[in-house]
Amino acid sequence: MPKDFLSVADWSADDLWSMADRAAGLRQAHREGKRPRTLEGRTLAMYFEKPSLRTHVTFEAGIAQLGGHGILLKPEQIGIGTRESPADVARALSRWVDCLMARTFSHELIEELAGDASIPVINGLTDLLHPCQAMADLVTIAEVMKPSDATIAYIGDGNNVVNSLILLAAVLGLRLNVATPETHRPSLRVLERARVLAETSGAQIELGEDPVEAVSGVDFVYTDTWTSMGQEDEAASRREIFRAYQVNEDLLGHSADARVMHCLPAHRGEEVTAEVLEGPRSVVFDQAENRLHAQNAILEHLLTR
Ligand code: CP
Ligand code: NVA
Repeated sequence: MPKDFLSVADWSADDLWSMADRAAGLRQAHREGKRPRTLEGRTLAMYFEKPSLRTHVTFEAGIAQLGGHGILLKPEQIGIGTRESPADVARALSRWVDCLMARTFSHELIEELAGDASIPVINGLTDLLHPCQAMADLVTIAEVMKPSDATIAYIGDGNNVVNSLILLAAVLGLRLNVATPETHRPSLRVLERARVLAETSGAQIELGEDPVEAVSGVDFVYTDTWTSMGQEDEAASRREIFRAYQVNEDLLGHSADARVMHCLPAHRGEEVTAEVLEGPRSVVFDQAENRLHAQNAILEHLLTR
């Protein structure tokens, strides 16, 4: 079993299904007011180079609800790469806490931290991947139907969120259509890894540029911001590039029953209309809710097995 949760592609289908099942169980327990103290006395350090609502609150609340404690670290306090090298930070933290969750710009930095840490490291989003989001999305899809019976369409920017969704589909053998502009496709490194994994899992991952083709007859339509954190200087040009990729009522007319997914934060009037985001097909707050339980299941999996 891997030490870290940096990418869903490092994990077996059995492990990912088991985490998703456990997350659903933890959600049910949570709704009944039960708080199993499976991580009593454990500590989680949380490091954020970028802003966060969901990831911060769900990790800090999650570890507390399981009987442990979270410690928030900010770049200006600890200065990874300026005050101290990543290797020294990773080795020092490993002597004090049980787990590190990090949100970094560079994916290489989280890999370096994980390589030098003896404790598990969890990826809370990098420029390349967002694996905790993908796990919460799996749990959300499973609330609606069997994920292996579902077809998912992702429309918009070929970013960290779709990169992890592609790898999730590739490991689990899911059906996923991706429509992005040719200039903003998912990562080539991710696509190559997914191609190899799909040979074993039977995943059907279709890449294209046409949103209508991608959403036709699917069960879930997923979108994300056109401007990810760190790309703010490109926001105006991105609004032009992605104009034809908005998830709106017209587009959803091609997928009669599809649920709408978004990892949030959302930009109403850009990648999704307010009408669709607030509409009856939207499961975006189920996704947000499931971040808590998916991550608690990941934490248990890493720390108690
Ligand atoms: N979806 C997500 O990761 O949200 P935050 O950026 O608020 O953590
Ligand atoms: N793609 C977005 C996801 C935010 C949760 C970003 O990286 O900003």
